[in-house]
Amino acid sequence: MLDETAATALLAAARDAARAAYAPYSGFAVGAAILTADGTTVTGCNIENASYPLAMCAERVAVGTALAAGHRAIQAIAVATPAAPGGTPCGACRQVLNEFVPRGGTMIVVLEGSQGPEQVPLASLLPRSFGPADLDRASEGEPANRQDSPGR
Ligand code: THU
Repeated sequence: MLDETAATALLAAARDAARAAYAPYSGFAVGAAILTADGTTVTGCNIENASYPLAMCAERVAVGTALAAGHRAIQAIAVATPAAPGGTPCGACRQVLNEFVPRGGTMIVVLEGSQGPEQVPLASLLPRSFGPADLDRASEGEPANRQDSPGR
């Protein structure tokens, strides 16, 4: 778990990121703020499209931004939605986040609780998850391009 100050700051960064959301179709502006393993904060917002199914969630935009900057392990992610309190990452985002859980550790999801930041382990939002370690267990001759994720 993050300390209260860190959780509050990460949620504030997520709220701030939501101001850049491009959500003209849903009107539902979401912001996400990732705390990487080395303590860097990386943000994202949802980006919609006139071709509706192409909308990108704030969480996955933040993950892509973090990865593009060279980060592989995510300690925590805060998510700010207009439906606060109660908004949580969608199922697809939970699966994408699961890929970048720190090796041997946990990822904390910081949500807008009714009394401030609510911290929930990703594992409780995605029980019995499928991830990199499952692929490792299944194969001996691992292709060379499946390496270096923090979860293995
Ligand atoms: N959305 C997110 O950005 N994150 C979530 O976890 C849930 C949904 C976005 C996608 C779409 O742009 C809008 O919210 C309405 O679904």
